[in-house]
Amino acid sequence: ALVSMTDMLNKAKEEKYAVGQFNINNLEWTQAILEACEAKKSPVILGVSEGAGRYMGGFKTIVNMVAGLLEDMDITIPVALHLDHGTSFESCKAAIDAGFTSVMIDASHHPLEENIATTKKVVDYAHANGASVEAELGTVGGEEDGIIGGIKYADPQECKELVEKTGIDALAPALGSVHGPYEGEPDLGFDEMAEIRSLADIPQVLHGGTGIPTADIEKAISCGTCKINVNTEFQQAWTKIVREVIANDTKVYDPRKIIGPGKAGIIEAAKEKIDTFGSANKA
Ligand code: G3H
Ligand code: ZN
Repeated sequence: ALVSMTDMLNKAKEEKYAVGQFNINNLEWTQAILEACEAKKSPVILGVSEGAGRYMGGFKTIVNMVAGLLEDMDITIPVALHLDHGTSFESCKAAIDAGFTSVMIDASHHPLEENIATTKKVVDYAHANGASVEAELGTVGGEEDGIIGGIKYADPQECKELVEKTGIDALAPALGSVHGPYEGEPDLGFDEMAEIRSLADIPQVLHGGTGIPTADIEKAISCGTCKINVNTEFQQAWTKIVREVIANDTKVYDPRKIIGPGKAGIIEAAKEKIDTFGSANKA
């Protein structure tokens, strides 16, 4: 059965590794991620953006698809189903009502007072329903919720205030990371991560996990990060294979033979992430 992120993240924080939030886009994606994580005996957070939610047909469809796979694939690892970058209380409530065990409320584009008020409302509803909540401060670079913008580093004092006033389970302070591929090397705010940890002792989340060098991942984990989100890297791995399949076989028309092979790319990439994050055998 699905679980919230609370226990898996507190254990990761305690033992200094990170649990991956691996985003899903369809059935094959979900199979591939679950297969990789089960093989590695790693806990996992399945991330679903609002856009991916619409793409897959809605929250109910996703909850039932994941529940079915957990049974059919004999999955034994802890799995959380998490709304990624929820833009409103209503969206988070709809995900929880459908059976999601975790949500991110991303009110980071709003003034602090409004971010706190919206986040608190989500926390009250989520906790009453056994679900966990992640909130954000600052701005992740690249595209976020359809908004394309520059990086804005989270303010540590504001982080402390958000955590204390809302009771969230995990905090995503934007500290130099980017959604999508990086241009050059990321410039992550490790000092701020450590400062935020000293001010607010809860699991920290690193968004934009694609393309961050291993040394930076390790440093982020040592500074308090225990959840890392990855999406783009799996998309790139899948697309590379599917492109080859179509290029190499101009007669192929069975969708299973076209998109199925892409799963191997996701599985390989997910296993690599699990090794880097240190979450293998932590289930
Ligand atoms: O919320 C999702 C992540 O932050 C994914 O970022 O696509 O750069 O890996 P990414
Ligand atoms: Zn993100």
